[in-house]
Amino acid sequence: MNQFQVDEERCIQCGECVAECPAGVINMDDYPVIYKEGCYQCQHCLAVCPTGAVSILGRDPDASILLDGNMPDPAKLEVLIKGRRSVRRYTGKDLSPALIDELLDIANHSPTGVNVQGVLFTVVREGAVLKKILEEVMDKLGKLHDAGELPEGLVAQYIGMAVSAWKNEGQDIICRGAPHLLITSAPKDAPCPAQDSLIALTTFQLMAHAKGVGTFWDGMFMMALSLLPDLVKRLGIPENHLLGYAMGFGEPEVEYHRTVQRGPVKVHFVD
Ligand SMILES: Cc1cc2nc3c(=O)[nH]c(=O)nc-3n(C[C@H](O)[C@H](O)[C@H](O)COP(=O)(O)O)c2cc1C
Repeated sequence: MNQFQVDEERCIQCGECVAECPAGVINMDDYPVIYKEGCYQCQHCLAVCPTGAVSILGRDPDASILLDGNMPDPAKLEVLIKGRRSVRRYTGKDLSPALIDELLDIANHSPTGVNVQGVLFTVVREGAVLKKILEEVMDKLGKLHDAGELPEGLVAQYIGMAVSAWKNEGQDIICRGAPHLLITSAPKDAPCPAQDSLIALTTFQLMAHAKGVGTFWDGMFMMALSLLPDLVKRLGIPENHLLGYAMGFGEPEVEYHRTVQRGPVKVHFVD
């Protein structure tokens, strides 16, 4: 079942896989076995085995990264979290496809509700393509703006600003000159599509910054998506998907030298 295999020469019968399984489908006979349906496919059995004896879903435990001594130093992780900035100045050079693939592969390790792993990463991998999309978007937003057809309120205000900056100063405040765009989405009928998509994007962002790639959450592009229903189709995002969010990314032109200093955390302890 689920290609669960135990290497009997490596297995020390410690029972960790049995105790760990969140679905409770592993039993210890002489060696561990999956004895009923209901595996979540989370691979905790493979991850928790101290001797690398467990294989599931056809995965070779020796192909996993060993955790002992390889976890990041918390102080460095703190610097990454506090030192990440919204990057709004880019060199405009495309990142290598290999680097983008690597970041996506890592982001794909984000948790998902009920482990459905249904997040779709829609990526603009070439700056020239994003430029073309942006030109189409600005053209359509400009027409809506000129016809007075933007919805009242903040959206009209921000999109109006973006349209005039584009027309009058040739300035892009929608994608901020980022050559790449990532939009995460997930099937609406997944258990947690909004949360899954946002967690994946957050993970992508932190790893991107760790590798020297700049990113920013692109609310302006989200506004454009909400105003231009054809844009979702143009990007090839399935109709049955809930959009998570958009993120611009690329090689930063700016370099930050210190963290910012935030106010005290708003916290409410419950007695
Ligand atoms: C949901 C969300 C949407 C955002 N949308 C935009 C945006 O459209 N354009 C932009 O330049 N920055 C955008 N930002 C970045 C915020 O303005 C930024 O996080 C904030 O100013 C703090 O700066 P920092 O990220 O460098 O700490 C967005 C951030 C979030 C979380």
